[in-house]
Amino acid sequence: MADTMRLDKFLSEMGKGSRSQIKEAAKKGRITINGICCKKADEKIDPQKDSICLDKLPVTYTKTEYYMLYKPQGVVSATEDGRYPTVVELIEDKKRKDLFPVGRLDLDTEGLLLITNDGDLAHRLLSPKKHVDKVYEAHIQGELPADAAARFAAGITLLDGTKTLPAELRILSESKMLLTIREGKFHQVKRMFEALGCRVCYLKRLSMGSLVLDESLNPGEYRALTKEERKALGICED
Ligand code: URA
Repeated sequence: MADTMRLDKFLSEMGKGSRSQIKEAAKKGRITINGICCKKADEKIDPQKDSICLDKLPVTYTKTEYYMLYKPQGVVSATEDGRYPTVVELIEDKKRKDLFPVGRLDLDTEGLLLITNDGDLAHRLLSPKKHVDKVYEAHIQGELPADAAARFAAGITLLDGTKTLPAELRILSESKMLLTIREGKFHQVKRMFEALGCRVCYLKRLSMGSLVLDESLNPGEYRALTKEERKALGICED
């Protein structure tokens, strides 16, 4: 069976307005299907085969989108927020309007964030059962105990009594660390260091599973995932 969908759903998913706005546009004769004016917003179309134009401009269909964002500080990991700009707003080239960030970084944390509308992928990366590695660079204040790496490796008991899974600490200098964690508890990295008497003053995510932050990106910049990156994440493409 052909994969058909309603014209208004197609255009609204592609960010061309709400269903009622699209209904209006159709009534006004602004939409064509294969060159023929269509005044019915609920008309069935095949997004792969039919050529749809709005105001004479072609609209192509994209089912899923994947972007690697270098999240800057001061931007929230959300789709909407009344106070701060959101990570989704930074993706200016997006076609779809249902993108969301895969997981959250704190307002003052920067680094790798995957932005997509692929719910299955998000589930695979975020499910607590999957134990996906996340590597963070942390700059800390305070003196780490001599047995810090062993304590991270054994799993840390946070100040509220929560026990974390084992984590891997690599000490780059007195104040600069790499920490690999396999879960995503609220403020986890900050709380793990806090449990050892230190304060995280800078935090950057470098990788998540197979996905590594592209060093050529600056804070606030993004790019689409490459084919190799999509393949490594197990994204099936037809
Ligand atoms: N751990 C934190 O404490 N903050 C983040 O943003 C991510 C991991």
